[in-house]
Amino acid sequence: MYITWSDDLNVGDPELDAHHRSIVDAIGRMEQALEKNQKNTMTGMILLELQQYVKVHFAAEEKLFRKTGFPQAEQHIAEHKIFQEKLEILKEEFVSGEGYPALDVLDFLINWFTNHITTFDREYIPYIGMSKEH
Ligand SMILES: [Fe+2]
Ligand SMILES: [Fe+2]
Repeated sequence: MYITWSDDLNVGDPELDAHHRSIVDAIGRMEQALEKNQKNTMTGMILLELQQYVKVHFAAEEKLFRKTGFPQAEQHIAEHKIFQEKLEILKEEFVSGEGYPALDVLDFLINWFTNHITTFDREYIPYIGMSKEH
């Protein structure tokens, strides 16, 4: 079973939802690539893509926090850092290993990401509308 998008992961902002979908999609493609033993090029490309999506996405959320004075920003940003550190570990394993990052790290990413959306990201839903006001 690969990670797939489900509508209960929506937070109600078209831009942030599109980011989440792209990240879920990239993680799913990585799972498939690893399972089919498509090491090296394929996995490396998806990893870079994933890192880029995550960087853009976290920056967009953190901008929303600054604009709205979201009270749980500090803890939320710390969570984002954990994910980026794990992603970096996955990349290092990929580069230094045989082009095969550990599946347990991938499992961590999958679980972290869906849990993060349904717990932490949901907390900022009431602030989305506020960020659009002038
Ligand atoms: Fe987040
Ligand atoms: Fe998010």
